[in-house]
This record gives sequence, structure tokens and C-alpha cells, in this order.
Amino acid sequence: MENIVELKDLSFGYKKDLLKNVNLKIKSGEFVGITGDNGEGKTTLLKLILGQLKPDSGQVILGENSDKNVSIGYLEQRLAEKNMSFSITPEEIISLNLYDEMGFFKIPSKKINSKVNNALSMVKMCEKKDYDFNNMSGGEKQRILIAKELVDNPQVLIFDEPTAGIDSDSKKILFGILEHLNKFHGITILVVTHEMEFCKPYFSRVLRVKDQRVVDVL
Ligand SMILES: Nc1ncnc2c1ncn2[C@@H]1O[C@H](COP(=O)(O)OP(=O)(O)OP(=O)(O)O)[C@@H](O)[C@H]1O
Ligand SMILES: [Mg+2]
Repeated sequence: MENIVELKDLSFGYKKDLLKNVNLKIKSGEFVGITGDNGEGKTTLLKLILGQLKPDSGQVILGENSDKNVSIGYLEQRLAEKNMSFSITPEEIISLNLYDEMGFFKIPSKKINSKVNNALSMVKMCEKKDYDFNNMSGGEKQRILIAKELVDNPQVLIFDEPTAGIDSDSKKILFGILEHLNKFHGITILVVTHEMEFCKPYFSRVLRVKDQRVVDVL
């Protein structure tokens, strides 16, 4: 399998060093767990992979031929706990990611509706597409936000602590969906979590961020 994300001698710090000479290769199709104590740099590592932060030295290489055409979906830490300041439905939230495809009048076409419905069905939320997002539970919001990322057909999905604040049944549903996306849609998945006991069976590989390094622990 080809590498889809590679870090080469990557170093980064905000004021002082946080990550130092990190080397990491993630292959297409892996389901990777990332753990580590608070403040060790897990979220920072994700932002470096996403290109939201630039390394002080070293490189992030996406895709085998460094063509940089790897599409990545990202669910940031605690996003599902936030409410929108206005009333909005899941269908509308997901459509936001297709705004560029909507054309001049910004009216959803049949093709866009079918993409939205497809994304909703992948997270098993079709029947709630007209609900008020703000009134949905944390676990349901999480799934809608996953659908929003899925509508772009990402090759990689990155989650920062998606299990925070959701009950164990919702966690099972969430990880069942992630497992399906990984196995049957071939999406490479990276999940930062503190709940290793629960998550471990799902992961093909576990990394730990500790003392400025990223090491394999499974
Ligand atoms: N924008 C920033 N400017 C300065 N320092 C920052 C910034 N963002 C994070 N840090 C610091 O960098 C360190 C790593 O932060 P990061 O958010 O990557 O940790 P984390 O491993 O994700 O922690 P947690 O488990 O609490 O989410 C922390 O000490 C944090 O205070
Ligand atoms: Mg974090």
C-alpha cells in the first residue's frame, strides 16, 4: 500500500519545541489511533498534517508522488459541542460544503441533493435531515458533521477526540460508522482519543505523542 501521509524530520514549536524530528508514514487504508497526555501536541500534529500550521523544519508529504492532491476531511476538537447561532438543518449544513458546485443561483440541483442524501445515509441520519441542528444530541451532531466532511469524498478523515462527551451507545454507533467508512469505502482514518480502552479494537495501529516524538505503541 502507498503512503498517504508522511512526516519527514518534522520539527515544530509555538514558543518552545513541541515536536522534534518526527518521522511517520501512514499508509492508505490504515485506521490510526493517536493518544498522549494533554498538551503533548496531538492537535498540533493534526494541524501540521492539514497544512494549517507550517513546520519549522522538515516536511509533510501527502500522497505518494507528492502531488498534494489528497483530500482530507477534519472534525476539530469539541466542534459537535458548539451550537450554531441561527437555526439550520443537517441538510443545509452538509450542502455548505458543496457551495462551490452550486453554480450561479446557489440553488441545490438534483445531483447535489443526491450527494447530500448519500452522505446522510452513510452516517444513518437520513430521517433527521430537516431537524434543527441545535436541538440534536451531541452524538447526532457528530454524525451530521461527519456527513459534511464525507460529501467531498475525502481520502483521509481526521477526528480530534470525537468520543468526548458522548455516551457508550453513541460511541459504538460512531465507531461502527468509522469502521464501515474505513473497510468499505477505503478511507484512511486518524483519530485522536484519550479513550484507548474503548477504541483500541477498531484501530489497525496506535501512535503515542510523547516527549516531542511520535511512536508506535501497537
Ligand atoms: N496557538 C498556540 N500558541 C501557543 N501555544 C499553543 C498554541 N496551541 C497550542 N499551544 C500549546 O502547545 C501545546 C500542545 O497543544 P496541543 O493542543 O497540540 O495539545 P494536545 O495534545 O492536543 O492536548 P489535549 O489532549 O489537551 O487536547 C500545549 O502546551 C498548548 O498550550
Ligand atoms: Mg488536543
